[in-house]
Formats: sequence, structure tokens, C-alpha cells
Amino acid sequence: MGANTYHQSHLKILMTREPKHIDLGQGEALPRIITEIPGPKSLAFIDRLSSTECPAITARRARRSETTGVDQDPIVWQDAVGSNVRDVDGNIYVDFTSGFGVASLGHRPAVIVDAVKAQSEKLVHAMGDVYPSDIKIDFSEKLAEIAPGDLAYSILGLNGSDAVAAALKTAVMKTGNTHVISFEDSYHGLFYGPLAVSGYRKSFRAPFKNQLNPNVSRVVFPKNTDQISVCMDALDEIRKAYSVGALIIEPIQGRGGEHVAPEGFLTELRKWSQTHKVVLIFDEIWTGLGRTGKWFACDHEGVVPDLMCIGKSLGGGYPLSALIGTPDVMAGWGNSEGEAIHTATFLGHPVSCAAGLATLQELQRKEWPEEVAKKGHIFETRLRKLAAGSQGRLALRGRGYLQGLVFSNPSRVLEFMGFLRERGFLVLPSGKNAEVLALTPPFTITDRQLETFFLIFEESIPSFW
Ligand SMILES: Cc1ncc(COP(=O)(O)O)c(C=O)c1O
Repeated sequence: MGANTYHQSHLKILMTREPKHIDLGQGEALPRIITEIPGPKSLAFIDRLSSTECPAITARRARRSETTGVDQDPIVWQDAVGSNVRDVDGNIYVDFTSGFGVASLGHRPAVIVDAVKAQSEKLVHAMGDVYPSDIKIDFSEKLAEIAPGDLAYSILGLNGSDAVAAALKTAVMKTGNTHVISFEDSYHGLFYGPLAVSGYRKSFRAPFKNQLNPNVSRVVFPKNTDQISVCMDALDEIRKAYSVGALIIEPIQGRGGEHVAPEGFLTELRKWSQTHKVVLIFDEIWTGLGRTGKWFACDHEGVVPDLMCIGKSLGGGYPLSALIGTPDVMAGWGNSEGEAIHTATFLGHPVSCAAGLATLQELQRKEWPEEVAKKGHIFETRLRKLAAGSQGRLALRGRGYLQGLVFSNPSRVLEFMGFLRERGFLVLPSGKNAEVLALTPPFTITDRQLETFFLIFEESIPSFW
């Protein structure tokens, strides 16, 4: 046997031992777990990562030493399409996180990838505020078309924090007031502007305290209609003490644990902010673009804010966010004096704008918000039944495809998350004590994938609650 022949047959044996490569197609596959989770290749990648990435960044790495009994080391993603993600070990998962809410249309949707390819053949980079691209203008017009009420003027960004920072600056330009009211447990991003107003975990702000806007008052997010008046009284007290420029709220707190604004609350805030000339900002970065079964969560109450932030799924997987505002509030910036006082190198990035335009067109074409209303109702009903049969150990919060199961015993959530991952389902915790199991599937998830999930979920959850 020549050396070459030996090499080839050896390789053949190795290859037959390798798991067969499965074509994920449209991403409608059921889970397929073929190694321990995390697998050996994931572990090797994470070891490499730990010598180049700032140690604080890869969150799950730190859970290695936790005594939960479940290894929480990260799996390393290799490819993803539709509702499926595959790791470097060849394990296939169904993604109930939608990749932080980004993959509402599924991972790597064909229409978005095609739009990105076409744009990449023409123009990849323009000069945002100085020489904009044609695609940025097409995209901005589409944004104005889908936005509620008279929200028509936008400032584009690349991530949620950009949109929130632009909103906070806009409120200052409009009112001249720097004081901001936000909510306990709110999450608006971790860049300085958004971090200052976020309520989620004091420890996130503590090291940077002296560099953050000190003019922030946080109030308790009302959990039911009875608490609305307490909150409105608190707002009045703050207004008496400070010149308030903005009030920022997520209509449903996402990372804070799927707290839904009680009915009538957004309407009260709208009235209050109009009376006191405070700019009302809705952060719909999680809740917008169909996730709750309407285009925007504020549509459930028919309330239009002065400013709205959107991001996450806006770029169909590519980095893109937007602040959209009324002409009146945006006029607070005045006219351009030759140099933009708010811009960035990649503002209105042509490829992201092409992805964003394709995303909005696809949401319209397939009528996804209406579809999520129907499918989300079935999803929610099944979860509600599960919570109802849990003897008080579980409670359900959320709307549409943004649902959170609250565990009365928070310490089991991470453990259950690990259990589900070993069976091929990716979920995330939410809430300040990780007491909530968040379920936010892609809109494209199939009935078969959902059914398989529920079979395992319903059978196993009683051992964890
Ligand atoms: C409601 C909300 N606002 C803002 C952000 C920050 O967005 P980004 O992480 O893209 O900066 C997030 C991120 O999870 C969010 O959920």
C-alpha cells in the first residue's frame, strides 16, 4: 500500500466516523444531538477564545464552575438557517431565542441574503450624512410608511444602543432639559447614554457611575392596573423636583422579565407627557416589528409616542437600528449648519439598509404581524395551560411570540435551560434574578418543531419547577 493510498483509506475511515452532514434546507429540522453538550470542538474553540477575548465578555464561560450540576460552557455556532442553528460539533438545535430577537424571519432568510448580495455588487459603503446612498433613502421612506402615526423622521444606527442614545439627545434638543425618567428593571443597552437610564442590574452601572448622566429618576414599572395611579403620582413628584425632558419605556420589558405594561398605562403616559411637554420615548427594540402580534407593541393600545427606537430584527440579521420621530420633536435639532452634530462613519450603511428594506417588505408581504397574532395566541394558550396546572409554581407573562415563564423557584431556570440545550432547544433566562425562562421563537418556526418542543417541555418541566 503506497503512502498516498494509506492516507486516503485512513481518511475514508475518519470520514465515515464523522456524522453525516445534514442539509438544513429552510431550517425546519428537528433537533439532532450527537455529542455531549458542549461538544469537544466547542470546548476547544472556547479555550482558544479565552486567550484572545476580554475575559468578561463571553458570559456563559463563567458558568463553568457553577454548582448547578449543568455544564453551561458555550456551544460555538457554525451555521444557521430558519429556526435551526448548528454548532461546530454538528449538533442541530431549534432556536427559541431567535438569536436575541434578531432572527424573527429566521436565520439567514433567503430574501435578505439576496438583497445583501445584490447591494454588495453595487455599493457597500457611502458617506452617511455627507453623501448618502440611494438605498438609505429608499429604506428611510419605507420606515416612515410602516411607522405608527406621524413618526416619519429617522436617525439610523447600527445597534439598539445607538437608537436609544439618539432618542435621549433628541429629547434634550427639543426641550433643553436633561432629566430623564425611566423604569426599574428596564434595559435600553449598555453604551453610556442608554446605560445611564437602564434600570436593569445596578452592578452594570456601578463601575461607570461617575461617567453617566446623573439626571435620571427610575420609577417602579406597574405590574397591574391598580399600580398605575401610584406610578403616575411618582411621576408628578419627580416633575415637581426636576425639569424633565424625556420619559423612556419598553411597552413590554424584555430582558427585565417580560413585564407587560398594564392596560391603559401607555395611554396615561401619553396624556401626562403631552400635558407636561415631556418627550415620550417607546423603546420597541425587542417588541417591535411584529413580535407581539402587531407591528408595534404600542399598537395594542393605539398609542403613538414622540420617539420610537427599533433595532434587533430590523436588519434581518445585519446590524441596523433606527430612531423614528415626529416632525415636531425632530425639529428640535434645528437645521443642518454644514456639519452634522450627530452622525457616525457607518450611518445608513448601504448593505444594512438593503437588508432593512428587504425585512420590512417581507414583513408586509407575508403579513407577519397578523400571522404572529394567530400563531402567538396558540403558543400563549398552551403555555398558559401549563402554568395553570403548575400549582402556582409557574406564571406566564408576555404577548405573541414574546413569552416568559416565571419560576417561583428561580434557581432552577438555568438548570432547565441546560437540560433543554442538551435536547436541542436554545432558550434564554430573563429577569433580574434569571427567574424567567424566555421563549421568543422565530416567526417561521414550524408546527412540527413547536410540537416536538412542547412534548419534551411539558413532560420535563415539573422536575424543575
Ligand atoms: C429593549 C431593548 N433596548 C435596547 C437594547 C440594546 O440593544 P443593543 O444590544 O443592540 O445595543 C436591547 C437589547 O437587548 C433591548 O432589548
